[in-house]
Amino acid sequence: MDQVLILCRLLQYGSAILLFGIATFQWVVAPIGLREAFARRLSTIFAAAAIIAILTSAAWLFLLSGKMAGDWADVWTPSTWSAVLADTEFGQVWRYRIVIALLLYGFIIARRPRSWRIEVGLSALFLASLGLVGHAAMFDGMRGWINRASQVLHLLSGGFWLGSLLPLLFCMGALSDKALRTDAGTALKRFSGAGHFAVALVIATGFLNTRLVLDRWPIHFSSPYEMLLAAKIALVLIMICLALVNRYILVPRLASDEGAPKNLRLATLTETIIGIGVIRLVSVFGTLPPQ
Ligand code: HEM
Repeated sequence: MDQVLILCRLLQYGSAILLFGIATFQWVVAPIGLREAFARRLSTIFAAAAIIAILTSAAWLFLLSGKMAGDWADVWTPSTWSAVLADTEFGQVWRYRIVIALLLYGFIIARRPRSWRIEVGLSALFLASLGLVGHAAMFDGMRGWINRASQVLHLLSGGFWLGSLLPLLFCMGALSDKALRTDAGTALKRFSGAGHFAVALVIATGFLNTRLVLDRWPIHFSSPYEMLLAAKIALVLIMICLALVNRYILVPRLASDEGAPKNLRLATLTETIIGIGVIRLVSVFGTLPPQ
């Protein structure tokens, strides 16, 4: 059951991060010409991510019901679901999350978004709601609220960084299109500015989360939680190095070096794959006791 729950968490975090990344890229980063050019492709991916978000939200409730009751049979028992919905913090947040996911899907199939403002608002709520459950909800009082707030900021900043990488790859493809090249260049510059802020915030809230949840640095590798958290931090350090090479070596060479666009795409694709590895680790260690 644990492996199915971990897969469900991976798909839920992945779809939530993709929804927020695509919507913020289209609303904040892409100039109008580029936003229109990407609208059909990104709307289709957005709708698919919204469906995955809805299905994994339901699966997470069913699986957690089975896990809390300690029996696979309870995965399929409505009375156990309603007990989880009524009596747990996860259940109380889940009710809002499923409504937001259904609204997200409804809006994206009802019309082609023009500004993506509504999608940014709803996807931010959906992603942020994941910061109100799990270990962030372990503590009460001030410490509990600081942990939830830090986790919400952590998810939104990490979500913007990681979730924007797919539209950014499309943007790099548009550099070779005469009609879109200028807008694509503008989007790369805008992302770089916002990206610096997002990376700084995800690191700062990551360290705060570590202090609040673990109350020490993750150096005791006999603890599976600490080992996986340390592995996550190592992967994020590699992502930061790739992002810095992109920003300060490859992007400045775009006008002069023929190979730069291809290398930029390769480095960004590698950053994306490592980012999926980060979510994979989180999907596991978020289910382990932080000791
Ligand atoms: C690309 C960058 C990052 C992404 C996408 C990311 C993503 C996430 C996600 C999705 C969670 C939620 C886990 C849950 O609720 O179970 C999380 C939690 C956490 N992250 Fe990150 N993170 C990133 C960087 C970092 C860094 C750099 C650190 C440490 C310095 C860090 C430390 C933590 C900690 C301690 C938690 C709490 C885990 C728990 O609830 O037990 N993260 N992160």
